Amino acid sequence: MKFRLSSGPLVDAGRAAKIMEELLKKVRESTSGIRQVIPVMSGKGGVGKSLMTASLALALRELGKNVAILDADLHGPSIPWLMGVVNDSMRATKEGRILPVMADGVGIVSVDLALERKDTPLAWRGPIKTRAILDLLSLTDWGQTEYLLVDLPPGTGDEALTILRYLKPRLGGAVLVTIPGGLVKHVVQKAINFLRIIGAPLLGVVINMAYFRCPVCGTRHEIFGEVSVPTNVKVLAEIPIDPELAKHVSRGELRKYFRLESAWKRAVIDAASEILKALEKQA
Ligand SMILES: Nc1ncnc2c1ncn2[C@@H]1O[C@H](COP(=O)(O)OP(=O)(O)O)[C@@H](O)[C@H]1O
Ligand SMILES: [Mg+2]
Repeated sequence: MKFRLSSGPLVDAGRAAKIMEELLKKVRESTSGIRQVIPVMSGKGGVGKSLMTASLALALRELGKNVAILDADLHGPSIPWLMGVVNDSMRATKEGRILPVMADGVGIVSVDLALERKDTPLAWRGPIKTRAILDLLSLTDWGQTEYLLVDLPPGTGDEALTILRYLKPRLGGAVLVTIPGGLVKHVVQKAINFLRIIGAPLLGVVINMAYFRCPVCGTRHEIFGEVSVPTNVKVLAEIPIDPELAKHVSRGELRKYFRLESAWKRAVIDAASEILKALEKQA
């Protein structure tokens, strides 16, 4: 049976509060098999956050970990495309539990995998988005997931608040993805302050597109300028710009590229190892 989204009937505020309470209880029960949640955030869009989320999941899997991804970027879901499962659908058990779509051992949950038509845009506002994320969390059969990576939309909106607030007991720590440059530094500081206010730990920052290495002469070019993160924040890894990667991604072949040897892949594996170290230190 395919799992399909439905929008429930409208209810009054008192009833809504009760529904919410029940939902949170269900979320706590359903996520009890997840060891640690790792939200992947960015100050702004287009820095390669979704690609990094998918790649980190593949890297953690290669390091022998049990990993799943929750695609919480409801307006711009990219995880199914990146993981090469865009035409798949999540299935539901007889009891109505959602089964993640599996790709190379990584479980994937996304609203995009529950839509009848993939070109349907979700024009949802705050409370409905919160509800949708909590529904996905509470309905999914997560099994024994060691690490749940959550691809959040850029910035500090409803989706990030929902995940950080309601999954707080299971939060391992957030990973911030950024690119070099002045504007980015400004928005990264905002995201760092956001985490501090909420009281969520930050594992560190992944600097994506940190440099381009000339394939002819080997010179390192810093295309987007210098890397600058606040001194008290750990840099987990510097990831190169890789045109071959971009080609594979646009064909939906990230998993294929990940199987090949490259400087990009080594950097992603480094980032995943550093994340595991940071989680250990946190514990
Ligand atoms: N290190 C990299 N080298 C080459 N292309 C990259 C790299 N990181 C990301 N990209 C490309 O940048 C684009 C945006 O990435 P995406 O993960 O969708 O960003 P975000 O989720 O932050 O909006 C994608 O087309 C992706 O292939
Ligand atoms: Mg994205």
